[in-house]
Amino acid sequence: MNIEAIEKAYRRQARYYDLYFGALFHRGRKAVIDRIGCRPGEKILEVGVGTGLSLPMYPDDVFVTGIDISPEMLERARRRRERDELDNVTELRLMDAEQMQFADDEFDKVVAMYVVPVVSNPKNLVDEMYRVCKPEGELFIVNHFQSQNPLVGRLEQLISPLSAMIGFRTNLCLDNFIQETDLDVIERSGVNMFGYWTMLQARNIKPPVIEELVSMPASAGYAG
Ligand SMILES: C[S@@+](CC[C@H](N)C(=O)[O-])C[C@H]1O[C@@H](n2cnc3c(N)ncnc32)[C@H](O)[C@@H]1O
Repeated sequence: MNIEAIEKAYRRQARYYDLYFGALFHRGRKAVIDRIGCRPGEKILEVGVGTGLSLPMYPDDVFVTGIDISPEMLERARRRRERDELDNVTELRLMDAEQMQFADDEFDKVVAMYVVPVVSNPKNLVDEMYRVCKPEGELFIVNHFQSQNPLVGRLEQLISPLSAMIGFRTNLCLDNFIQETDLDVIERSGVNMFGYWTMLQARNIKPPVIEELVSMPASAGYAG
C-alpha cells in the first residue's frame, strides 16, 4: 500500500465512512479511550484520526491532537469538532503519521485506531509513535490482525491482493507485528464483534541515550 493508494481509497470512502464503520468499530474506540485512563491536562495524539468518530469520547480536560493523511477524512473531523464544540481538540492536522512534524517526547499517550494495517509501513508508524511519545508514556493500538482460525486466516490471505482497493491489509500477523516493532505490550484484548479486533496497550520504553549510559556508574548497568 503506497500513500497514493491510501489517499485514493479514503477520498472514495470519506463520504460513507461513518455509515459503514461508525457503529461497527465503535466499541473498539470506546475500549481504547476507557483503557487510556486520561488524566487532566494530558496531551493525547491520535494518528489516522479519520472523520474524528472518537473525538467526542475523550474527556474535556485533556488536549487532543489528531492527524490524518486524507484531506477529505480530516475535513469531516474538523466539521465534527465545530458542530460538537470539542474545545479540547486543539489541533487537526494533515500529516503523514510515518513522518510526523512533531518534536520528540511531545505527547503523554499516542493512539492509533484501525490505522496500522492501512499505512505503507507499520514499523515506521510505530517508531514515530514511540518518538513523539514521552519516555514514560504509552501507546494504544486497535485493529484487526490476521485471524488465528485457519479457515478465516486463509480467506484473509486470499483477499489480501485487494488491500489497496479496500484501504487496509487483511493479513497482518499480530506476532510478527509485535516482534518487528518491539512493542512492550502490557495489555492485549479482543474487542468489537466476536473479539475479532485486538486492542494493544504498550509502554513506551526508550533506551537511555548514549550520554546517559556514559555518565552512569558502572554498577548501575543497562540490560536493554
Ligand atoms: C480505517 S481509517 C480509521 C479512522 C479512525 N481512526 C476511526 O477510528 O475510524 C484509517 C485512517 O488512517 C489514515 N491514514 C492512513 N495512512 C496514514 C498515514 N500514513 N498518516 C496519517 N493517516 C493515515 C487514513 O486516511 C484513514 O483516515
